[in-house]
Amino acid sequence: MNAPVTLDAAMVADVERRASAALAAATTTDELRAAEAETLGKRGELTGLNARVGGLDPPARKDAGALLNAARARLRALHDARAAELDAAAGAERVAAERLDLSEVLPGPVRGSLNLVTQTRDALEDTFIGMGFVVAEGPEVESDWHNFEALNMPPAHPARSGFDTLYLDWGEPESALLRTHTSPVQVRLMLEQPPPIYAVMPGRVYRKDTPDARHTPSFSQIEGLVVDHGITFGDLAGTIDTFTRAYFGPNISARLRPGYFPFTEPSAEFEITCTICEGLGCRTCSGTGWVELGGCGMVHPNVFEAVGVDPEEWTGFAFGFGIDRLAQMRFAIPDMRVLADNDLRFITQF
Ligand code: PHE
Repeated sequence: MNAPVTLDAAMVADVERRASAALAAATTTDELRAAEAETLGKRGELTGLNARVGGLDPPARKDAGALLNAARARLRALHDARAAELDAAAGAERVAAERLDLSEVLPGPVRGSLNLVTQTRDALEDTFIGMGFVVAEGPEVESDWHNFEALNMPPAHPARSGFDTLYLDWGEPESALLRTHTSPVQVRLMLEQPPPIYAVMPGRVYRKDTPDARHTPSFSQIEGLVVDHGITFGDLAGTIDTFTRAYFGPNISARLRPGYFPFTEPSAEFEITCTICEGLGCRTCSGTGWVELGGCGMVHPNVFEAVGVDPEEWTGFAFGFGIDRLAQMRFAIPDMRVLADNDLRFITQF
């Protein structure tokens, strides 16, 4: 007969001590995997002890099983903690190895910043929010209806040709386009919500222009729309003047000159004091002291009809102007194309 099987706490503790040491000693994931097989695996010492449990006297079996299970759980936790440590270390090593050193490409430490047009757009939004307006947006791909028809420019309207439209090859010919101005967002806003409306709508617009010092085929505009009871041309003039002073300071003011837009009646072009010479006359303003910024006017009744707003009850005004042009004016930038270039000599100035 075989010698009686024994298994006491000291034996378990001994095996556990050796196993913990082996797991802790692993310095790579491969080593840890090997140590795991050796200690917790099928051929490991602990499993060897487990096999003995069956040979014990029934009362001793329960105690031995509990001892072994507790030891295994502690070793498993130790293994998992070590695995997490080694994984983190390997990740950090990989990041360090893959790090790109850009310091040689750049002429010194360069802090990133928002594009000047974005900065200008943010400042404009802030100014209008301060005057009680909300900011809204619309899509850059528009339907002919939103961009033209609802704005009182039916097909073949002569004003359409002034917009140098870029059409998309989608759906019916000339039914989808890159919006030529932010005015279609007026249409969307009025379709979405009943008046009163006090909103500005900034965004990118597109025209089939050849780039030169004053034109780029894509640029940014900010549209304004106010619809309420009893809105008059005086409200429009006052709003534009208040905005101009809030944005540019007290030395710059605005003036309106008669103009034409199909979606406003009456319409005006608005000019501001030339910010370069503050009205004295310089090359930028061709000696006039004024620079044209955009268009505005009272919302045409046909536009109200198109979006289901009753022109007998409501009146409103709208304006729109170029954000890039404004930035160009404010910072005296001779050529607009630099706004879209990646020339660090320009970018790092803002
Ligand atoms: N949408 C016009 C343009 O791009 C500007 C404008 C907006 C004029 C609102 C009047 C009212 O030229």
